Amino acid sequence: MARLSVNVDHVATLRQARGIDEPDPVWAAVLAEKAGADGIIVHLREDRRHIQDRDLKVLRQVVKGRLNMEMAATEEMLGIAATVGPDLCTLVPERRQELTTEGGLEVKGHLEAVKQAVAKLNGAGIQVSLFIDPHPEQVKAAHLAGAQVVELHTGTYANAGDEATLKKHLDAIEDAARLAARLNIKVAAGHGLNLRNVGPLLKLPEIEEYSIGHSIVARALFVGMEQAVGEMLALVRQSAAPRAAEAPRRRL
Ligand code: PXP
Repeated sequence: MARLSVNVDHVATLRQARGIDEPDPVWAAVLAEKAGADGIIVHLREDRRHIQDRDLKVLRQVVKGRLNMEMAATEEMLGIAATVGPDLCTLVPERRQELTTEGGLEVKGHLEAVKQAVAKLNGAGIQVSLFIDPHPEQVKAAHLAGAQVVELHTGTYANAGDEATLKKHLDAIEDAARLAARLNIKVAAGHGLNLRNVGPLLKLPEIEEYSIGHSIVARALFVGMEQAVGEMLALVRQSAAPRAAEAPRRRL
């Protein structure tokens, strides 16, 4: 039985399009938790295109489950994380021109820098997840960097145009998940997942948590946040993952 964490960035995207104070991602987070979500994710981007510093601070006060802050491993973000104190930080690559996170973090090529960021966050009492492509070299590098969690990038799997490509990406995710579990790293998965494509991943017992944003927020426009989260949760709870021990939550 895996966990579901809901990314509410896109609620903030809609708010920022108008530059006013609604819709509020904090409200979306409250409804997601009310529907049973195990955690809330926000990506505080360097360009502040959706989530704002205020959102992160208020969410830290309001979120009852695990608060996961996605961020680039910059000095600014490391400082904000240490001050606000999310339960988990997910380090992601960030490019200003991208529409969304486009690929996993190149951990192998920046091992020392990632290792230092992990150590800094761990020193502040924050667990660290690295968002990586499902590749053995990246999993091994994440291990060397000291990460507690890897989030396997499922975007290429989600975008596969035919069965053979889908199978290839699914196999890569399975191999990476197994390797991470063998190295004692917890495994999450996310990007591009929706009600139609999450099924095959749920058969992989190593994946303990799913990070899902766009498809839930998109569906919430028509059926409401609680129903959209509830539908995804009903699937995620059918996963082959053994019931994961409740991850410890940081004290405020
Ligand atoms: N995980 C990471 C690291 C991400 O950057 C994103 C997108 O913000 C997600 C999960 C969620 O992806 P999606 O919005 O496609 O569900």
